[in-house]
Amino acid sequence: MKKKIGFVVAMALVGLALLSTRYYLVDLPVWHFFGGGNGPDPVTLHLRGEFVESNLGAAEGPAGSVTVRMIAQQFVFVPQCIVIPAGVPITFRITSADTVHKLSFMGTNYGLKAAPGVVTEATFTFAKAGEFKIPCQEFCGAGHYAMRGHLDVVPRHQFASLLPGERRTCEPR
Ligand code: CUA
Repeated sequence: MKKKIGFVVAMALVGLALLSTRYYLVDLPVWHFFGGGNGPDPVTLHLRGEFVESNLGAAEGPAGSVTVRMIAQQFVFVPQCIVIPAGVPITFRITSADTVHKLSFMGTNYGLKAAPGVVTEATFTFAKAGEFKIPCQEFCGAGHYAMRGHLDVVPRHQFASLLPGERRTCEPR
């Protein structure tokens, strides 16, 4: 009998541990309720806060630091094309407007997950100029295989000479 209780308790603990790390895979409104607005609300992402359209893409911070903000959504990355300088640590901040996506930079081992209600942050340095495809590597629905962004790594001086609007995104206009 004691063994049985122990087993049930152990299973419950395993379940809790799983939930605490994978809660974002289960889309229940109750998570947003408990989340208490810590992360960005996927529904109002485009309307207010850090991830409004005018704040997306690459932005230069103090001391020449660069932050890239992106939204992953079925089935695009917003912005679809970003420019960054080579040889500078770039802080990526990404969230999702719907389900879980994974941003990966082809030809590197850099990648980061985008999940609704959370901001994933990682800092990567691209040593040399070049172009990288950004395919989504987490199955996210019918358009998953077509979901890919584009990263344009340019020499530092070239990035510095870009206008703010051109820095934000390299999407053709
Ligand atoms: Cu987004 Cu797969």
